[in-house]
Amino acid sequence: MDEQMKKQLGIEENKPVDWFETLYSESNEKGNGVPWANMAPHPVFQYWIDKNLNIGTGKTALVVGCGMGDDAIELEKNGFKVTAFDVSSSAIVLCKKRFPDSKVTFVQADLLKEIPEWHQKFDFVLEIFTIQALPPKYEDILIKNIADFVAPNGQLLVVTEVQKSERDFQNGPPWLLNESYIKSFESHELKLIEHSNSFESHMCGELHLSLFQR
Ligand SMILES: C[S@@+](CC[C@H](N)C(=O)[O-])C[C@H]1O[C@@H](n2cnc3c(N)ncnc32)[C@H](O)[C@@H]1O
Repeated sequence: MDEQMKKQLGIEENKPVDWFETLYSESNEKGNGVPWANMAPHPVFQYWIDKNLNIGTGKTALVVGCGMGDDAIELEKNGFKVTAFDVSSSAIVLCKKRFPDSKVTFVQADLLKEIPEWHQKFDFVLEIFTIQALPPKYEDILIKNIADFVAPNGQLLVVTEVQKSERDFQNGPPWLLNESYIKSFESHELKLIEHSNSFESHMCGELHLSLFQR
């Protein structure tokens, strides 16, 4: 993204989340103007869940940076009791409007802040493209806070784009991760148990699916 566009959207390294609220508050239930809103579960997540049908029976799940809410609804369909959060309160309003009959708890929360009541609380945590939506200097805290949500024996599924070159504020958003994100999650007592990087990338990187277990 060029500097002019960044300025227009209000993207600043030291104010990393304000622009999401601006984007969603100007959007609607069709996701107009939200670049990542495909109004369906992410295809890589859909591929994975289709191979793991009904794994959610009796289990809890948390969706990080849930956006328009489709991934949360897919987890609910697969039996999970789902909580889904986004930093943008307007995104949460749109999720509730789009899925009025759902039992998913859609809630506003900020991943940059610790959320003690969710400490190791969820059997399944889903992270798609949230870490790469924030400037590189926040990577460690985002990874630490995501890892913290995973219950003992619980799992974390990460879908992210990865680049070989060093991450740099000038080159985003999105700020594609480096492969070292895997070691970072592992440093928080999670073990990589499934990994694929053979999906088609739309961001000139490698599209990864990584499943971790505590
Ligand atoms: C690139 S979008 C991806 C949305 C969704 N996961 C998807 O795949 O369609 C990143 C999402 O993370 C949310 N987000 C950004 N920073 C966040 C934060 N600090 N805490 C919670 N959500 C955040 C944004 O509002 C946005 O909905």
